[in-house]
Amino acid sequence: MKKISYVDLIVVKEEMKGAIENRNHIGFREDYHVLHYLIKRLKPRRFFEIGTNTGVGTKIIYNALNLSGVNGFEVFSLDLPPEGAHLSKQYPGENRIGNQCSVKYTQLFGDSMNYDFMKHGRMDGWFVDGEHDYEHVFAESNKIKPHNSRVVIYHDSDKKGVYDGIKEVFKSAKGYVMYRVVDTRIAFVVKEEYEKDLFGDNSL
Ligand SMILES: C[S@@+](CC[C@H](N)C(=O)[O-])C[C@H]1O[C@@H](n2cnc3c(N)ncnc32)[C@H](O)[C@@H]1O
Repeated sequence: MKKISYVDLIVVKEEMKGAIENRNHIGFREDYHVLHYLIKRLKPRRFFEIGTNTGVGTKIIYNALNLSGVNGFEVFSLDLPPEGAHLSKQYPGENRIGNQCSVKYTQLFGDSMNYDFMKHGRMDGWFVDGEHDYEHVFAESNKIKPHNSRVVIYHDSDKKGVYDGIKEVFKSAKGYVMYRVVDTRIAFVVKEEYEKDLFGDNSL
């Protein structure tokens, strides 16, 4: 996995104009800056988030796509149904799923472990932020791979299970490059043909 730092990635400060700041935990500000930046640079039209929680990330994703001027973009977000609440300690409560996100997106319910990720058609981008362990990331990534998406962004890749899961699935994916943004919790996988868009026009 290639290593890059936050300051090396986000050189064009212009891209951060209008970004929603997430200060819910130490380090989230930088993590979600990277999410915003990658979306603005890579412009994935159909975007899927695994793990809605209260919808703070969903709102950030929507805002970044909206500011990118991507025509007809769509945001889907998946979380557990109430009967699956016991599956995750992070489950926020039935009435709190997506309650911080008032913009238009499609809320989906299901367990990512057996959810059919092709059901809603091919996606261009992902934010994988459900259960942060090897089993989940491995299973989710294996189902994401056939989408041939331009970017897959992972939160909590500072956790060994998450990092190993990404590597295991994408090491054999031809035409993809893996990055770890070392001073954040973000890792991402980008199609080689879009890698130049990450850094294009970044010269100062
Ligand atoms: C860290 S929170 C997501 C935070 C959100 N992405 C954000 O940026 O604000 C993780 C969420 O994943 C959900 N989750 C955990 N396991 C899941 C699974 N197997 N399928 C679907 N959602 C899951 C939890 O219920 C929780 O709401």
